[in-house]
Amino acid sequence: MDLTELIRKAQEARARAYVPYSGFHVGAALLCKDGTIFSGCNIENSAYGPTNCAERTAIFKAVSEGYREFETIVIVSDSEQPTPPCGVCRQVMAEFCGPEFPVVMMGCDGSQRTASLGELLPYAFSLEK
Ligand code: THU
Repeated sequence: MDLTELIRKAQEARARAYVPYSGFHVGAALLCKDGTIFSGCNIENSAYGPTNCAERTAIFKAVSEGYREFETIVIVSDSEQPTPPCGVCRQVMAEFCGPEFPVVMMGCDGSQRTASLGELLPYAFSLEK
């Protein structure tokens, strides 16, 4: 899959990160099954707890616009190391995506690492019995 467009959108979103507390910019671009792309940045809060990660911003934007079927997500940050999604974002991904869902983590030096959601969150919690 050509990730060029997704990487560019994730980088553009990263530039919009609101990070007065950590100074750590994160951007994500989520590809829907129909080709639509939703991007997101992290948005921090002085109370810390309400901070929203870039990945969840992108997913919540998509779901609130009626999209629930996703192909992949690209994550970029300030770090040279590919940035893995936090545990809360993994759980949110598991709400809408199966274990095969590919999560593409990019370092700002261009390094790239892909892991499936099943690798990142084995034994994901679900209410399904
Ligand atoms: N952050 C993300 O946006 N995504 C992640 O998966 C990891 C953490 C943000 C949250 C916070 O604004 C900053 O990075 C430092 O934790």
